Order: sequence, then structure tokens, then C-alpha cells
Amino acid sequence: MRPISNFAARDVEALLHPTTNLLAHRSAGPLVVERAEGIYVYDSGGKRYIEGLAGLWCAGLGYGNQELVETAREQMARLSFTHLFGGRSHEPAIALAEKIKAISPVPASKVFFTNSGSEANDTQVKIAWYYNNVRGQPRRKKIIARQRGYHGTTVAAASLSGLSVFHADFDLPIAGVLHTDCPHHWKGAEAGEGEEAYATRIVRSLQDLIEREGPDTIAAFIAEPVMGAGGVLLPPATYFEKVQAVLARHDIAFIADEVICGFGRTGHWWGSQTFGIQPSSITMAKAVTSAYVPMGALTVPEGVYQTLVDASGKHGVFAHGFTYSGHPLACAVALKTIEIYERIKIVEHVRRVAPIFRLRLQALADHPLVGEARGIGLIGGLELVKDKRARQSFEPKLGVGAKAVRFAEEEGLLCRAVGGDTVALCPPLIIDGAEINAMFDGITRALDRTEGWLRKEGHV
Ligand SMILES: Cc1ncc(COP(=O)(O)O)c(C=O)c1O
Repeated sequence: MRPISNFAARDVEALLHPTTNLLAHRSAGPLVVERAEGIYVYDSGGKRYIEGLAGLWCAGLGYGNQELVETAREQMARLSFTHLFGGRSHEPAIALAEKIKAISPVPASKVFFTNSGSEANDTQVKIAWYYNNVRGQPRRKKIIARQRGYHGTTVAAASLSGLSVFHADFDLPIAGVLHTDCPHHWKGAEAGEGEEAYATRIVRSLQDLIEREGPDTIAAFIAEPVMGAGGVLLPPATYFEKVQAVLARHDIAFIADEVICGFGRTGHWWGSQTFGIQPSSITMAKAVTSAYVPMGALTVPEGVYQTLVDASGKHGVFAHGFTYSGHPLACAVALKTIEIYERIKIVEHVRRVAPIFRLRLQALADHPLVGEARGIGLIGGLELVKDKRARQSFEPKLGVGAKAVRFAEEEGLLCRAVGGDTVALCPPLIIDGAEINAMFDGITRALDRTEGWLRKEGHV
């Protein structure tokens, strides 16, 4: 049971929660988090939890990092705000743009700042439209995303997302967004079809889609290197190689959504490096500030930038931006975050502890409820199924993933059910081996309890 606090009634009366079952929330009430340290958060009753999802896949350095606190304090004291509109600037924004250019997995001409991953992906879409209009290809507007992809919840980003709950009754997706196959071999492959053959088949379906729509009507393809919110789905062997060959043939830009994968999560700085992707542009957010302050960003390639410059001759200004694009606080904290990642060699650390993570994850493949245990680096998913052999899911209304997550919470572990009944684990990057083991002990107990509950209710 969640602790009954006097926050509960106030919360239910005052807050409209994002991405929450509002009906269930009225009876379940909130989990009120009060403080955090390292990989742990503490609720209002003082109970400690391992933050098994790094908040929302974002708190790379964990909590209570005093260097980041001090950086934020100093920046707020020196310059709490100035903006970047109309050519105004400040040193933290300049230095951060330089740093992101230097660590970008592909050449980047410029960096544009936002406050979130959604805003960054909306910006990607708007720039793709604007760029193609200005360069005289006004038909080239459509964006191809993937079923079960997740790119955020603003109007364009939610449209790119390939999860129906983000569309239904929101009048989304907007026109011009197309969704191609979700690359999930375990679920989508035909009997006896290996990863490479499966990748060939679904990339042929992408090729067919492009030909049906008209290659000169497609501006860009967007993909997460590892799909996060759609269910922690890893690309099958040769998938991105084949996708890139098709895109190159038709002059279609590749936007890599690195919002979860960026900054070491998969064992390289970028998921693009892990999976051999050479994108035209990347979107980042979350771990760029280790979630101490909101920030998102995207890189702009040289050719696109030059066209935007030309457009200012026509329109006067590049009329896109947010009051807080490149907020000094966010820039200073991001710079310090990246400095710390480099100093403590976070990528090497992830590679060092990832084998423990992988071993414990793979061991759970034998659990009666786990259909597939998948992951890379420090991100993993456990897909819970009714019938392992038939790869048959539970009825969505049973909420098996949500139930497992609730048991995990009782066991002192916070995680999330994504893409239906997949329990996602994505701890702070600073987690050590003993803490990884404690996290998996917690999820194992939660899965055992979930199985017990399903048996008691007669569902397995
Ligand atoms: C891959 C990906 N892109 C974009 C977003 C949206 O980011 P934000 O919630 O900061 O708008 C998310 C959020 O989870 C994400 O996982």
C-alpha cells in the first residue's frame, strides 16, 4: 500500500497528472516523493526505493550531485535569465553548443535548444517542412516514423509517436506522418525467420511505403536507436544498415531520436554509435542535464543551416523558438553534466557494469511470466506474457505489467510498464554492481508476486 499522507487528497483535488490513468489515480492516489540521493528516492513516509528507471529514463548521474547543485546556484546568482532571440546570447549557451557539436556522432553545423524532447522533435518536423519549402521542394513534407516509436506528446511529436493511446480522441496524428513497421523480431518474425531475414522483410515494407507515397514527398525518417516507451525494443541485426540504404537511395533525412539513448545509456555516447547509424540530425534531452533542469536540443546539418540562412533573406527571421531556448541555467547544468560524464568516464562505467545487468536480465528469461528479456548497456525490458511458447500476451485489461510495477514499488523498486506489459529498467548510469543486483532482486520478487496473483485469480 502507498503511504496515506495528507498530500494524497490534495493531489487528487489539484493535479491533472501527465500520462496517468486518471480514473485509477482517483482511488490509488499518488506516490509522493520527497527527497533523493544517489540511485535512491524516498517517499513521504520515509520509505526508500531504487529509482529503477532513472526517473523517466533521464537522471543519468542520479540524485543529490552537489557539483550540479552548486553550478545551478552560481549560474542563477550570476545570470538567471537572458534569451537567444534576435541574436542575444550568453556564454553557457555558446559553450554548450560547441560541446554538443564536438561530441555529436555526426557532423553538426549548429545546435538548437528547447526545453524538452517533444519540443525538439516538433522543431525537427518544422525545420524539415521549412527547409524543403525554401529549397524549392514543397512536395517533400512527409515524415516516416515507426509503430510503437515514442517521440513525445506535443502535436507533431505525438503524431510521430506510434502508440495509439497518444492519438485516440486527440485528433492525431496530423496529416503527413506515416508509420512503418515496428522492428520487433521476437514478436513480429514469422516461424523460422531469422533476424536478418526479418529485417529485410520489414525494410522492404518501408521501401514499398516510400514508393507508394512517392519518394519525392518524404522529407525524413525518425527513429529511436532503442525504442524506449514502446517497450524497450532493440533493432534486429542489419535493420538500421538496410533502412539507411533505402533512405540514401531516396535522399530522405534520418533523424535519430537520442532522447533516451544519448549520453552513454547503450554503452557508447550515442545509440547511433552502438547501432551503426549515421543520422542527418539528432534529438537529445533528458540525460543532457541528468534531469536536474529541463532541456532538449537538436543538431542542424550544414546544408539545412545554409538554407535557413537563405530563408531569412525572404522572411526576415527564422520564426521559431521558445522563451527558454538555451536557458542559462539549463545550459550551465548541461555543460557541467557532460563535464562530469567525461571526468568519471561514464561510458566506460556503463560498459563495466553492463555485463552484470545483462546476466541478471537474461536469468529472468527463465521466469514463467517472461516471454522475452531484452536489453543493452543499462536499459532493459521484461515482456510479460500469458504463454511463453505461443508468445501470447495477457489481456490488456488485466494490467499485468502495471501490477508487476506496483509489486516492485512495494518491494522498494520504482520502474514502469511500457508498450503494454513490458517492465522497463533503466537505472541511473552511476549504478554499481551491488545496486544492480539489488534492483534485480526487487524485480524478481515482484514478478514472483505477480505470478502468485495471476494464479490466485485463475489467469495462468
Ligand atoms: C525517445 C523519446 N523522444 C522524445 C521524448 C519526449 O521527451 P519529453 O518528455 O522531454 O518531451 C521521450 C520521452 O520519454 C523519449 O523517450
